[in-house]
Amino acid sequence: MKTRLIADLSVSAIGLGAMPMSVAGHMPDEGRSIRTIHAALDAGVTLIDTADAYAPTTAETGHNERLVARALELWSGDRDTVLVATKGGHTRTGGDGWGLDGSRDYLRRACERSLKALGVEAIGLYQHHRPDPAVPYEESIGALRELLDEGKIRLAGISNADPAQIRQAHDILGGRLASVQNEYSPRFRSSEQEIDVCEELGVAFLPWSPLGGITSAARLGDAHAVFNEVAAERGVSPQRVCLAWELARSRVVIPIPGASRPESILDSVAAADLTLTGEELARLG
Ligand SMILES: NC(=O)c1ccc[n+]([C@@H]2O[C@H](COP(=O)([O-])OP(=O)(O)OC[C@H]3O[C@@H](n4cnc5c(N)ncnc54)[C@H](OP(=O)(O)O)[C@@H]3O)[C@@H](O)[C@H]2O)c1
Repeated sequence: MKTRLIADLSVSAIGLGAMPMSVAGHMPDEGRSIRTIHAALDAGVTLIDTADAYAPTTAETGHNERLVARALELWSGDRDTVLVATKGGHTRTGGDGWGLDGSRDYLRRACERSLKALGVEAIGLYQHHRPDPAVPYEESIGALRELLDEGKIRLAGISNADPAQIRQAHDILGGRLASVQNEYSPRFRSSEQEIDVCEELGVAFLPWSPLGGITSAARLGDAHAVFNEVAAERGVSPQRVCLAWELARSRVVIPIPGASRPESILDSVAAADLTLTGEELARLG
């Protein structure tokens, strides 16, 4: 498996997005979820993305983190080679609603809860999930800086940030911003500027919903015909072409395709070994 860097840590060029395994109406039984995570790990994936808010209901906050922890516990490989990236700052409200809390106190509590859910002494990569308009960004990122300095998290990242917020977070963290996780896919290209800023700062960029999202991923090639065309010529899936296209965008890009079936992640992982030609990339745009 080809590798890329998050800060000075080498991880697989394709990560696993664990969210589909905790989405109401989509989530499989625990056995299939664990087989999916093990398939990824056995194939060389060393980055798993989760969040405290990935849960079928509010009452089950931490569901996805506990699932990832359980799968790692049951895996026969070396857990220390795997970077688990989680997030805090999104709350779950009511039955299956979503809210935000970017306050220092909340983020500190959320981090403690994630430490317990993951069963670790320090979180590998802790990401602020989404800026909270009701809280100054300095306060949210300041909380991350405290957690870094206290050793509760090993690396700090942000998500859903614009170019100015990326630069601000990098400054507040004293140059220690490790990653930015924003939406990026053939149907959502407005993160181009953020990728450029990450490349300039040497910060990893983790495209979320890199295949267009849980409900659209299967139809990626129908919505974007050129991905189907290149895929047919190469004899691979349009999803694999899509991830290879994202990898080619910049050396800092590390896609985190979601999966709830072993077949999906195994197909996606093979994108790390698919090198597209200049002519193909020009056609894909
Ligand atoms: N930071 C944020 O605000 C934010 C927001 C959304 C998501 N995320 C993160 O980003 C990750 C990925 O996003 P996502 O899961 O929303 O969307 P996605 O990766 O675009 O699509 C996920 C779906 O793609 C299918 N799939 C994966 N590989 C495939 C392949 N090679 N061929 C055909 N289908 C394939 C999977 O199907 P099966 O389920 O059938 O396996 C899965 O349900 C999430 O898991 C989460 O970790 C972050």
